[in-house]
Amino acid sequence: RKPENMLSIGIIVEELFGLAVRHAYPDLDDIPVMIQGSSKFADYQCNSALVICAKLKAQGVKLPPKEIAQKIVASLPESEYFSKVEAAPNGFINIDLSKDYVSGQISSVLQKGPSPPNVGIKKRVVVDFSSPNIAKEMHVGHLRSTIIGESLCRLLEWVGHDVLRLNHLGDWGTQFGMLIAHLKDKFPNYLSVSPPIKDLQAFYKESKVRFDEDEAFKKRAYEAVVKLQNGDEAHLKGWNLICDVSRQEFQKVYKRLGVSITERGESFYQPLMGAIVKELEEKEHLVLEEGRKIMYIPGAPAPLTVVKSDGGFTYATSDLTAIKHRLHVEKGDWLLYVVDAGQNLHLQSIFDAGVIAGWYDPKQARVEHVMFGVVLGEDKKKFKTRSGEVIRLVDLLDEGVKRAEMKLVEKGRDKELTKEEMKKAMEAVAYGCIKYNDLSHNRNHEYVFSFDRMLDDRGNTAAYLLYAYTRIRSIARTAQVSPQQLKEAATKTKIVLDHPKEWKLAKCLLRFPEIILKCLDDLLIHTLCDFLYEVATTFSEFYDSCYCIEKDKSGKIVKVDMSRILLCEATASVIGAGFHILSITPVDKM
Ligand code: ARG
Repeated sequence: RKPENMLSIGIIVEELFGLAVRHAYPDLDDIPVMIQGSSKFADYQCNSALVICAKLKAQGVKLPPKEIAQKIVASLPESEYFSKVEAAPNGFINIDLSKDYVSGQISSVLQKGPSPPNVGIKKRVVVDFSSPNIAKEMHVGHLRSTIIGESLCRLLEWVGHDVLRLNHLGDWGTQFGMLIAHLKDKFPNYLSVSPPIKDLQAFYKESKVRFDEDEAFKKRAYEAVVKLQNGDEAHLKGWNLICDVSRQEFQKVYKRLGVSITERGESFYQPLMGAIVKELEEKEHLVLEEGRKIMYIPGAPAPLTVVKSDGGFTYATSDLTAIKHRLHVEKGDWLLYVVDAGQNLHLQSIFDAGVIAGWYDPKQARVEHVMFGVVLGEDKKKFKTRSGEVIRLVDLLDEGVKRAEMKLVEKGRDKELTKEEMKKAMEAVAYGCIKYNDLSHNRNHEYVFSFDRMLDDRGNTAAYLLYAYTRIRSIARTAQVSPQQLKEAATKTKIVLDHPKEWKLAKCLLRFPEIILKCLDDLLIHTLCDFLYEVATTFSEFYDSCYCIEKDKSGKIVKVDMSRILLCEATASVIGAGFHILSITPVDKM
């Protein structure tokens, strides 16, 4: 089989050796083909011979591992991929890639860009992310969900899946009673004149104080909830007005971060909840306890409350309704919930409930909680302002831009760049760093939020990668090779990989599709960040020892090594594709 552009070489190696192993030992089944990436000895290593040796031994047949390895090598189908396949005395098979093959793959990256690995059947993926709550400020926990969610969507879309991005806004619940009651008091003519609420947070606090202190107000708040739930028009209007204020705030953050998401809050599922409760009741999954209707989930520490004793619905009811909707109406066959680790028990119960209710078969549909740890301040405690308040996201972004500006000024960039370029660079650096800092940590762990660390242009940071990318992109310009010349050279110039650093860089670039497949499997994006960092450092090794441009004493260019210039371009192209998935905007000048 002829591979498509950039079909993952690791997978090709695995498939070919799988064939060889089955051909050499047809009577043994279940032999895992284990391929390891580059070692001291080779580009890839296969250790199936050792597994076979142990199996045969158990059957009473004693054979030296090297002999088994040789038999596998002899059974390997003809192919263009390898320059050397050799059985080592210890039974490992050392595999070296062919220069022609790697060189051809680099050419294809130059012509078509890095194309996604083949993922087989395209899936309909529903991704629930960001999902802040109305009237409460969006905080760093929501920032993590937003950043990780956006990046996962881009990853899934890049390989061709059909992705539905959903914002499961907390836009319904008893707090709206007090908010509406307060709205009616403060802005009695809210139905005709839009109330100028600037700070919804403060508005929330005011109404909460009244709710806690004023019995009459509390009573009116409860009445407002009932009216809202019964669909009273004036109350719905008030609810909508309050939601709109939040919505505009959220939208500003999404715009700055380049996030696109469809709002489908808890309220969307309200009209559908009655039928869900009825279905669960008819299937006898609900039990009545102290006036509540609850659903027991085997293995879960607590049951789900589906209907409260006052007849109201809960967070669980909306999630039960949502999961069925996502599976049956949206036809999702892969559901992701990008939500903090603290909600794991809740979500696991919802997922189990969906199976119990017969809404999906976990063997057919992938339903996953993509969880993440908390964000810590530099004091290793929960990230808060000095006065102990939650940090507002907008303030955080503003601060990032300010700090990025300081960095750029420190480097004297403000003198070289136009105002417009400077603004672009500031934002790209700030948002890129905030995102990368989050994504480059294993999401299962907590991480420390440090502007100093993330804006450092040494080490595995977006600042470093952005500088590296900009520098690589500028090489062709310095060599006075025009984009048109580059395009022509991409099809005509053979990529020479004779220098060990050229060879190392080219092989590193080829691992991109494998990394993408790994990310799709475990949804851990930091693997991609680690890879991009490796690409940038491997590039730097190459650039230090391989001249791309030679100048004479007067600084005049005397020689341009086109093959190397193309290798620079291919590197930029791979980093660029990585940036796209991480939602990082590169800048031409910085
Ligand atoms: N609004 C919730 C919160 O801020 C997150 C919602 C997550 N999604 C879900 N389907 N439960 O905690």
